[in-house]
Amino acid sequence: MSDLDELFEAAKAVRENAYAPYSNFLVGAALRTPDGTVYTGCNVENASYPVSVCAEGGAVSAMIAGGRRLIAEMVVIGDAALCSPCGMCRQRLKEFGTDHLVVHVADLNGVRRSFTMDELLPAAFELEMKKG
Ligand code: THU
Repeated sequence: MSDLDELFEAAKAVRENAYAPYSNFLVGAALRTPDGTVYTGCNVENASYPVSVCAEGGAVSAMIAGGRRLIAEMVVIGDAALCSPCGMCRQRLKEFGTDHLVVHVADLNGVRRSFTMDELLPAAFELEMKKG
C-alpha cells in the first residue's frame, strides 16, 4: 500500500467515528508528519453549532498532543461533495504545514483533487514566531 493509500484508508476509517447528528455530513482527516507518523481526526458537532470542530482541527490537535508540529501531507474525506477544508481550517493548516504540504481531498472512492497550501490560502497571514 502506498503512503497516500495508507493516509486515505486512515481518513476513511476515522470518518466512521464522526459525530455529526446535525449536518449528517461525516468527515475524516488523516495527516502525516515528516517523520512518517499519522494522526487522525473527525468532525465533532454540537447543539450550539459554532462549537463544532472540523475533522482537520481534530487531526491537528492529535498531532500537537502527540508532540509533533509539522504536517507533510493530509487527506480529507467527506461524503460525496468535494470536501475541501473550510476557511478557518486553511488558516489552521497554514500554521503547521511544511512548505511542501499537499492536501488531498477525497470522496469515499478515492482522492479527487490535490492542493498545495498556497492554492488553498494564497497571501496567508503569518507571524514569524510560529512553528516553535
Ligand atoms: N467539515 C469538516 O469537518 N471539514 C471540512 O473540511 C468541511 C466541513 C464539517 C463541519 C461540519 O461538522 C460538517 O462538516 C458540515 O459542514
